[in-house]
Amino acid sequence: MIDSVGVLGGGLMGSGIAEVAARAGFGTYVREVSSELADRARKSIERSLGRAVERGKLSHDDCVAALARLAFGTDLQAAAVGKIVIEAVVEDLEVKNHLWRELNRLAKPETIFASNTSSLTIAAMSAASGRPDRLIGLHFFNPVPVMPLVEVIPTIGTSLATIEAADNFVRRLGKEPVRAKDASGFIVNRLLVPYMLDAVRAVEQGVGSTVDIDNAMRLGTGHPMGPLTLLDFVGIDTACRIAEIMFDEYREARFAPPPLLRRMVLAGWFGRKSGRGFYDYTVDPPTPTAL
Ligand code: 3HC
Repeated sequence: MIDSVGVLGGGLMGSGIAEVAARAGFGTYVREVSSELADRARKSIERSLGRAVERGKLSHDDCVAALARLAFGTDLQAAAVGKIVIEAVVEDLEVKNHLWRELNRLAKPETIFASNTSSLTIAAMSAASGRPDRLIGLHFFNPVPVMPLVEVIPTIGTSLATIEAADNFVRRLGKEPVRAKDASGFIVNRLLVPYMLDAVRAVEQGVGSTVDIDNAMRLGTGHPMGPLTLLDFVGIDTACRIAEIMFDEYREARFAPPPLLRRMVLAGWFGRKSGRGFYDYTVDPPTPTAL
C-alpha cells in the first residue's frame, strides 16, 4: 500500500504533483538539486495552497495538515524512502537515467518508480531503473492541482501488480487514470503537440494574428485557452524540447518544431515563466508580442 511519495524535481510539474499528493494525505518529500531550488518549490506550493484557502477550496486546517506532510531538500535517500518515487526532472534521458541508477541503490526493492516524462518512452528508463517490473509512466497535466487526468503508461515489462497499484494511487490523488501505450507522447501529447505546432505555423504563414488564432480556437471550439496561450503556459522551451523528442522518434513533419518556435527559445522567450512568449506578461492584461 502506497503511503508516502518521493518527488524528484520541484519545478512546475514536480511541485504540482507534490501538492496534490500532500493534500491527498501522503507524506511527501520533494528533492531538488540545490537548497535554493528546494526552497523555491516549497514557496510555490505554499502559495498555491494559500490560494486554495482564499478561494474556499481548502480549509485552513487541511492546508496546515498538507504542509506538515511535505518536506523539501536535496537528499536523494529521503526521496527514496517513498513507497513510490515520481520523477519530474528535465526532459533529458541521461539525467533521468542517472537518477534512476542512484535511486535503485537507495530504495527498497518493492518501491515503485514512476516517470512524469511527456515525450520520452518509459522503456528507455527500464534498464537504469534496475526494476523494469516496478517502473511505470504517470503523466500529469499542468496545472496539476486542476487537471483531473493522469496517463498511466506501463511498458511491456511492467507487472500487473504495479499497474494496479499505480491506478489506485492515481485515484487516491483524486485523479482519473487512462491507460496509454508506451509510445512517445502517449495519448495527449500525440494529439496536442501537432495541434500547437500547427498554430505556430499558422502564425508564420500569416493565417491569422496571435489573438485571432487563439480566439478562433477558444470561441469556435470551446477550448479553455487558445493554442498560443497554451504554448506560453506549457513553456516554449518545454514544448520545443517535446517536439524535438517526438520528431526524433517518429520522423514525421507534423512533430517538427517550426523555425519560429526555435527562434523564440534562442531569444529566451519561454512564455509565461520568462515574462514573454506569444504574449508579453510584463503588462496587465498580457498583449501579443511582435513576432
Ligand atoms: N493551481 C491551482 N489552481 C489553479 C491554477 C493553478 N496553477 N490555475 C488555475 N487554477 C484554478 C483556479 O483557482 C480556478 O478554480 P475555481 O474556478 O474553483 O475558482 C480554476 O482553476 C479556473 O481558473 P481561472 O478562473 O483563474 O482561469 P481559467 O478559467 O482560465 O482556467 C485553466 C485556468 C484551468 C489553466 C484553464 O485555462 C485550462 O484548463 N487551460 C488548459 C490547460 C491545459 O490544456 N493543460 C494541459 C497542458 S499540456 C500538459 O500539461 C502536458 C505536458 O506534457 C506538456
